[in-house]
Amino acid sequence: MKAVTYNAFGDPEVLKISDLPLPEPGAGEIRVKISAAAVNPIDWKIRNGQFECVFEHAFPITPGWDMAGVIDTLGKGVLDWRAGDKVYAYTRFARAEVGTYAEYIVVPESYLAPMPRGFSYVEAASIPLVALTAWQTFIDFAKLTPGQVTLIHAGAGGVGSLAIPLAKHLGATVITTAQVDNHGYCRELGADHCIDYQADDYRSVLKGLYPDGVDVILDTLGGETPNESLGVLKPGGALICLNDPPDEDRAKNLGLRVLRLYAEPDGKTLAKITRLVEEGVLPIPEIQIFPLSAAQKAHTLSEAGHVKGKLVLKFI
Ligand SMILES: NC(=O)c1ccc[n+]([C@@H]2O[C@H](COP(=O)([O-])OP(=O)(O)OC[C@H]3O[C@@H](n4cnc5c(N)ncnc54)[C@H](OP(=O)(O)O)[C@@H]3O)[C@@H](O)[C@H]2O)c1
Repeated sequence: MKAVTYNAFGDPEVLKISDLPLPEPGAGEIRVKISAAAVNPIDWKIRNGQFECVFEHAFPITPGWDMAGVIDTLGKGVLDWRAGDKVYAYTRFARAEVGTYAEYIVVPESYLAPMPRGFSYVEAASIPLVALTAWQTFIDFAKLTPGQVTLIHAGAGGVGSLAIPLAKHLGATVITTAQVDNHGYCRELGADHCIDYQADDYRSVLKGLYPDGVDVILDTLGGETPNESLGVLKPGGALICLNDPPDEDRAKNLGLRVLRLYAEPDGKTLAKITRLVEEGVLPIPEIQIFPLSAAQKAHTLSEAGHVKGKLVLKFI
């Protein structure tokens, strides 16, 4: 099968189209013929070697943790799926090796959910990783309730594109950070207040709006942001960090709940997300489409840090 692979960590230029053996599903596994795969920042973070000490890896590595396609072959003991079912999934494995920038992938059946009806493979592929991240942030950990206030950093990015409408659906007031050109997009997603992080200090704006602090912060940025965020949360508030964690002792002394999230594959929750997409509660993000052969270009764009919505590789 055709796949994008790399044999050493490095720049986007290490990505090549190669031929790999067709993977065979074992017991409880399913082989999916992939039609579209989203590009996420983790793909280039693994590719450039910065996660070398976090994940085991085995070259050649195929990048990609998001996909949509059609079930091709069932492994032994799989009862709930049929060949031909349209499915999508977030497909993180413990070891960096198998990925979704490939014509086929074998995954545990527990990763899969039915694709939202009436949507294309490209649209479906843009959803799983970022929607599960938003769900595990606001529903599983923060337990966001109506009337609470949340700050979502980088509202125009992939995570923001699903986190904003999910938090609104849960009844929260949503504040987000984005460059001013993206404020219209964030408002369409449901943001109540957009902060131009290039012109204003988000902490001063928040203090002006909510002097007692906000209830939940989703930090997509890392660096200094997790520690800065501790100062603008209410006691009892929750900070969810997708990159670096804050000083945990300081967070505890302030009475805050903190999670360094590593989003988990979860087909059952993804099936609930499918329904919210079908009902229009979770809109499809803005998408830029690339052929599989343009994976290098997509990585270069993602790495520049200003993707609006999602980048998706479409297979012919
Ligand atoms: N731990 C986990 O489980 C997990 C899960 C998902 C994602 N992540 C991580 O979370 C981060 C975000 O993921 P993503 O998929 O949303 O990335 P993305 O789609 O590449 O997001 C890029 C967005 O960041 C915005 N941005 C850049 N600098 C900013 C700043 N200083 N303040 C506010 N916004 C800024 C850009 O908007 P502007 O053009 O408006 O600047 C752009 O829209 C990545 O580091 C990713 O690896 C981790």
